[in-house]
Amino acid sequence: MSYQIHHSVPKAVTTWLSIGIVMVFVQVVVGGITRLTDSGLSITEWEIIQGTLPPLNLADWEDAFDAYKVNAKKQYESLHADMTLSEFKVIFFWEYIHRFWARMMGLVFIVPFVWFLWKKWIPRWLILRLGVVIALATAAATFGWIMVASGLNDDSRTWVSAYKLIIHLSLATTLLGYLFWTYLLAAQPQRVDYHFAAQKRFGVWVTGVLLVQILFGGLMAGMRAGLIHPHFPVFVQGAGFWSIFASSDGLTLAALNDYEPSLYVKGIVQLLHRSTAYLLVVLLLVFVVQLLRRQVSKNCIMVASLWGG
Ligand code: HEM
Repeated sequence: MSYQIHHSVPKAVTTWLSIGIVMVFVQVVVGGITRLTDSGLSITEWEIIQGTLPPLNLADWEDAFDAYKVNAKKQYESLHADMTLSEFKVIFFWEYIHRFWARMMGLVFIVPFVWFLWKKWIPRWLILRLGVVIALATAAATFGWIMVASGLNDDSRTWVSAYKLIIHLSLATTLLGYLFWTYLLAAQPQRVDYHFAAQKRFGVWVTGVLLVQILFGGLMAGMRAGLIHPHFPVFVQGAGFWSIFASSDGLTLAALNDYEPSLYVKGIVQLLHRSTAYLLVVLLLVFVVQLLRRQVSKNCIMVASLWGG
């Protein structure tokens, strides 16, 4: 049995880290709502400072709505052609809150960080980890704009690029996971290593597969790939389990490729997303059984099953 010691960290710092975790989690949820409400292209500029205030009068609102009609023309015409100004305010609201919250996250992070540094309350190992946190958050925010820009001024696009969406999503997910891990290291300076090296390695693999599954999920969402095979567990109603390969109604992968290449890609993404889901269920069952056999602490099994849930 070995002990790994980190210097203890003042409560104010661990509290600040936990506030950071909650804020990133809220940002992930708001980001999901922004996508699900098709609000992502409603703000067509990225003005970090000037964009902090929303339109404050009718003229400003009409300018913002006109900019949306022009810069997100394909989406406006295909999804929101008869939209009123008050309906536009709803989609603007979600994108605006998502960006405003990103600004607040920056503020709530930087100001205390500088204060704690000045007070010498942050040990060196934690400063390095927080440097990674800042880099991940900056990359997530920057890719937020790169993703939005991918859907603007392009008459072939109704939505943002699915590939840029999953980069934004994977940066956000990595930020949340890395910040949580950093909090655990800071909050539990004395960690006992129970020599469960094999389980730990297996746990890292399961986490890796879960991250890949989140990315496939982001691709499914970004491509609206779920619409071409809206049946479960079969792909095609009244056909076999793996009916995506051969079925009577022509919705096979080969047929999709003839019909329109992007449908083929959507078919592949759905196949990968479903298959990874089945793999993940098996891996998690094996993981929990392994932990049960090794009589690890109840907390550990609870976290493992929650992580899998
Ligand atoms: C650290 C800051 C940020 C985090 C953690 C974050 C996280 C997320 C997450 C998790 C989603 C949901 C993805 C999905 O459902 O697949 C999302 C969506 C979105 N984010 Fe962010 N975001 C951040 C900053 C930004 C910024 C600064 C912008 C714009 C400049 C932005 C623009 C968007 C848009 C437009 C969507 C919706 C995508 C769509 O319509 O499909 N995000 N964000």
